[in-house]
Amino acid sequence: MKVVFLAPSYPPEMQQYTRGLAEVGAEVYGVGDTPRASLPASLKPHLADYLQVPRILDDDDVVARVTEWLRGRSVDRVLANWEVMVLTAARLRERFGIPGMSVDTVRGFRDKQLMKERVRLAGLRTPHSERVRTASETRAAAARIGYPLIVKPISGAGSADTYKVQSAAELERALSAMQHVEVASCEEYISGEEFTFDTVCIGGKPAFMNVAQYLPPPLVARSEEWISPIIITVRDLLQPKLVAGVALGKQVLGALGMGDGFTHMEWFRKPDGEVVFGEIGCRPGGAHLVDQMNYTCDIDLFREWARAVCWGKFEAPTTRKYNAAIIFKRARGQGRITRIEGLRAFMRAYGDHVVEERLLRPGTPRRNWKHTLISDGHILLRHPDWQKTYEMAQAAATEVTLYAE
Ligand SMILES: Nc1ncnc2c1ncn2[C@@H]1O[C@H](COP(=O)(O)OP(=O)(O)OP(=O)(O)O)[C@@H](O)[C@H]1O
Ligand SMILES: [Mg+2]
Repeated sequence: MKVVFLAPSYPPEMQQYTRGLAEVGAEVYGVGDTPRASLPASLKPHLADYLQVPRILDDDDVVARVTEWLRGRSVDRVLANWEVMVLTAARLRERFGIPGMSVDTVRGFRDKQLMKERVRLAGLRTPHSERVRTASETRAAAARIGYPLIVKPISGAGSADTYKVQSAAELERALSAMQHVEVASCEEYISGEEFTFDTVCIGGKPAFMNVAQYLPPPLVARSEEWISPIIITVRDLLQPKLVAGVALGKQVLGALGMGDGFTHMEWFRKPDGEVVFGEIGCRPGGAHLVDQMNYTCDIDLFREWARAVCWGKFEAPTTRKYNAAIIFKRARGQGRITRIEGLRAFMRAYGDHVVEERLLRPGTPRRNWKHTLISDGHILLRHPDWQKTYEMAQAAATEVTLYAE
């Protein structure tokens, strides 16, 4: 089984997927812009070969160079788990006639308006939305949709340039802040709780499923620096509160023609119980979500994903043992971390349930919390009981404080 895997070393978790592929017996042909000499030593044994390209995001160039590189060799899969690479992988598959999702199918996972149109066409509930290119188109769409609404880039990530807009005056402010965005989505604002629906699929059917709750919703977490964002995987997927969301998730996979691999969907649950589709990608969630899912079941999804996409099998147990919570911390002050308060007391009280503590240590420069959800480090903990997990996560959010100067 020869597998071309795009971007095998960056973002860093891609190294784990490369390892997983090698562990299930694939010969991995990596393509990335990291210089060969700078590839981590731990990654090299898992790569059969590596092509360094000058610009990994230059789609045409990557397709041309990989085509040249593979001349005379046959490959069985072309895969990518990084959002910005999934279309390139599909283009390469089409060019070589390799099984897997087509460019058209993958566009349904990349283009937020097309995605919603396809999901809507299947009779599923999405926010009312329109694709807009100019200020006047946005004003006209806003008049049809009504306030409050959301304007955001069609191919956004990390809630960048995403605005909740409550009035015509606020719309004007959002429009001037978004001038660099070429194509946007103007949509009905859905208020409610926000969850993920994650899968590893084989032929569009989930071999593994997960739901996690965002506390608070990502847009809120991204607007206020003092918040410590929390994400908790839910142990009990069968509880009444989640049934409709899980059903929606499975139907969305069908509507978009999902094939093999990871999916990461976001959905809302309104106070009246109605569930609404948010967005979906045909790749794993970021910000350690795969680690959280692994801690939920004590499994290795990096490897099981590889088994699913290479051999059509999923062999890990899917029994959910824990709710796994990750708490991202943001330091007070700018510059370098100077001290951490409350950590010792927190660990004394809850240390038995903590599986990772990766807060930045004094002396380390702060990360930009607007650019990366992982902020100034995290605590990851787990417990079989949801309420206990929630309470410990809240304690980590409120009782542990990093300072920077
Ligand atoms: N129609 C909507 N109603 C309410 N909230 C919304 C809506 N669309 C987006 N949001 C909020 O904005 C956040 C970011 O939007 P979305 O997930 O579409 O973009 P994104 O930038 O790709 O997200 P990310 O990469 O962080 O997952 C959502 O998680 C949600 O909190
Ligand atoms: Mg999102």
